[in-house]
Amino acid sequence: MNPAELIDTACKALEHAHAPYSGYKVGAALLCANGTVFTGCNVENASYGLTNCAERTAVFSAVAAGQKKFSAIAIAAGSEPAPFPCGACRQVLVEFCPPEFPVHVAHADGYETMALGDLLPHIFGASDG
Ligand code: THU
Repeated sequence: MNPAELIDTACKALEHAHAPYSGYKVGAALLCANGTVFTGCNVENASYGLTNCAERTAVFSAVAAGQKKFSAIAIAAGSEPAPFPCGACRQVLVEFCPPEFPVHVAHADGYETMALGDLLPHIFGASDG
């Protein structure tokens, strides 16, 4: 699946978002090394702090299904601003993905692609504990 198709998949996933508190719907599409795609949406909670972002929903769904090797992720939101992944999601991604892992973020004019290592440099990773 190419980046544009992955963005389209993330756009469809955001329709499932449970975001009654922020009103900001987010979808993510995570491409696995074997070609399968797992989607996620943000799932908010009345206690606010229990909210799960779209990216982590996608990663956790994939891992729960036995997938830990990923090729790219796309993230899309239903409104402005563009959904750059939060710090928690970046840390969850580096658990499984290398610095060159492509993160495609949809915005009004299309999408931009960043390397995970640029979004979260100087990581505390799996071999550091
Ligand atoms: N959110 C995501 O799901 N992913 C992002 O990349 C940015 C933020 C969600 C969390 C919360 O439900 C809402 O957006 C507002 O912060």
